[in-house]
Amino acid sequence: MRNHFEVEIYSDSVPLTEAVLSSRIGDADGLLCLVTDPVTERVMEQAPRLKIISNHGVGYDNIDIAAATRRKIAVTNTPGVLTEATADFTWALLLAVARQVVAGDRVVRSGQFHGWDPLFMRGADIVGKTLGIIGAGRIGTAVAERAVGWKMSVLYLNRGRNEYLEQKLNARRVLLPELLSHSDFISIHLPLTPETRHFIGANELAQMKPTAYLINTARGAIIDEQALLKALQDNQIAGAALDVFEHEPALTPGLAELPNVVLAPHLGSATFETRDKMAEIAATNIIRYFQGKKPISIVNPEVLEP
Ligand code: 8YV
Repeated sequence: MRNHFEVEIYSDSVPLTEAVLSSRIGDADGLLCLVTDPVTERVMEQAPRLKIISNHGVGYDNIDIAAATRRKIAVTNTPGVLTEATADFTWALLLAVARQVVAGDRVVRSGQFHGWDPLFMRGADIVGKTLGIIGAGRIGTAVAERAVGWKMSVLYLNRGRNEYLEQKLNARRVLLPELLSHSDFISIHLPLTPETRHFIGANELAQMKPTAYLINTARGAIIDEQALLKALQDNQIAGAALDVFEHEPALTPGLAELPNVVLAPHLGSATFETRDKMAEIAATNIIRYFQGKKPISIVNPEVLEP
């Protein structure tokens, strides 16, 4: 970026607040931001020269897209390059929660492993079970592809049909009640929008099997975390593995005390290779924009029309 622009970097370890971002954005022509940065209309009002907001991430619920579009500000993201890493991490969480990998680690470290026992720390089989995918876009599809190795049946919920999933994996498109009541593992891959906020609440959790697990690597607020806490406390479902939280980075009090959850600090795309590619695309989107070229991936292409 420094080869092309004068660059100001925010390098504090605490995430930017709307107030700090508003006070710092000033005369910037472009903004390269993280998914934790709230790029609201108030922030845009303080940036009269702003032309492009380049999000380091595929999800862009941190940005007021309508406000940006009204102001002819381009918004770009980094789809594609993080699909496989996020799908891998979803499976890491699924396996971890089903087979008590993290709980087992804690037992060994704390000196609680007193010898092998046939009934000690049993988990759930995965082979032959049913995987429910909520949101069968790029990442949901990649998660489903990995289920082949476990010979799973795949159900999916999606706005449109995903013919690839149906033809290659024999996946079946179902409505939410069927997905909830028939799946042994449910994985969420929706974007966060006003419609998907609390998509999974008390009512949905109550429809899941008591032996089922819920995995979320999308956005925390898609699940009503308070309702999930209660479902887990009451053993209404077997467990949950979460990479994202409703009030990230804060946790709903009580969640960390539960034995049947695995918690990760938003690591879905966190591999060396993937994060490098994301950074490169986020920077390239800004460079191309100011060279008068189309960015690699633009969320609101209508702003580029004359
Ligand atoms: C990243 C993400 O951790 O791409 C997304 O939407 O949530 C993650 O891949 C994040 O984008 C880092 O800014």
